[in-house]
Amino acid sequence: MTDTPAVHAPPNTETEPCGDLCIRTLAMPADTNANGDIFGGWLLSQMDIGGGVFATKTTKSRTVTVAIEAMNFRKPVYVGDLVSVHATLVRTGRTSITVHLEAWVLRRKAVQSILVTDGNFTYVAIDDQGHPQAIAQGAATTVTA
Ligand SMILES: CC(C)(COP(=O)(O)OP(=O)(O)OC[C@H]1O[C@@H](n2cnc3c(N)ncnc32)[C@H](O)[C@@H]1OP(=O)(O)O)[C@@H](O)C(=O)NCCC(=O)NCCS
Repeated sequence: MTDTPAVHAPPNTETEPCGDLCIRTLAMPADTNANGDIFGGWLLSQMDIGGGVFATKTTKSRTVTVAIEAMNFRKPVYVGDLVSVHATLVRTGRTSITVHLEAWVLRRKAVQSILVTDGNFTYVAIDDQGHPQAIAQGAATTVTA
């Protein structure tokens, strides 16, 4: 019998984010849900934007998101939090890559960032017609900021 990988990955227990910083933004009042906290969909879209930036740099191609997996919302985000999205390449396929994304926040008056969400996002390299295209050999091994 083979072990099935856990859907909900254990959190990064480090006190610092893993991976490259992709985007950093401020959670604003317009991004809140009915409870007055930051809407999960807003945070997901920030992660997708950050992951897309990383995917385009990595594949040196236009990319689209094809799948989001193992998404964990671990802590709430509040208005005024500074949100940072960090990316680590975890898989390279023929036309796609999977990127582990972490969102960390620095709350107002806090000195230590905390992990709020993480998940695995898969991006496909596409041509001008929107069809999958092979990632150039070697392209997905080095990323420079
Ligand atoms: C992404 C897209 C171009 C892929 O087209 P396709 O005809 O399904 O392409 P393929 O079946 O050849 O798959 C291409 C790659 O995606 C991967 N893939 C496809 N579906 C996947 C899924 N659900 N999960 C993970 N990977 C997937 C395949 O494994 C393949 O990767 P590989 O070449 O590295 O092995 C097409 O599905 C699409 O345009 N989707 C909409 C994307 C979009 O609009 N995203 C934004 C949503 S808001």
